[in-house]
Amino acid sequence: MMIRSLLCSGTLLMATSWINPAMAEDTLYERLGGAEGISVVVDHFIDEISFDRRIYPFFKDSDIERFRNKFSEQLCAVSDGPCIYSGDDMPTVHTGMNISETDFNRVVELLQKAMADSGIPYTDQNRLLQRLAPLRGEMLHR
Ligand code: HEM
Repeated sequence: MMIRSLLCSGTLLMATSWINPAMAEDTLYERLGGAEGISVVVDHFIDEISFDRRIYPFFKDSDIERFRNKFSEQLCAVSDGPCIYSGDDMPTVHTGMNISETDFNRVVELLQKAMADSGIPYTDQNRLLQRLAPLRGEMLHR
């Protein structure tokens, strides 16, 4: 009986992965909801920035439509989506801003909040943040 049920569940598992092989290998991009999901996150992120007393001043003279476009493209590319980032490199963009660790951490918090408000599961939020974390050194104190 035990062996039979084990065999059955094994067969079932094999069958599901055979029917939908992508299931086990969703890219982070897909898990974020693709282009539509990323666009919702970026909208929330821009709202968060615009209400944040510490971060808004950095963006007050920026072209927000360009930021929306390039940042979305970057999120798509780092999450293994079908995009190639076409914006400026991170040191070039952030030089002259003198971004502190506190500023950086605040931006991470705002992005985290934007993802939570967009219904992105916590584990996927962390996966995305992990991929952005290595860029930290390219923008601090420049
Ligand atoms: C992991 C963290 C960050 C990422 C991935 C990131 C990414 C980007 C990208 C892709 C752009 C657009 C580049 C372009 O227009 O070609 C941008 C622009 C900008 N970022 Fe960041 N950024 C980060 C952190 C920060 C922080 C901490 C600040 C300030 C506290 C900041 C302030 C800005 C500003 C003000 C612009 C607009 C620049 C302009 O008007 O030309 N960023 N960022």
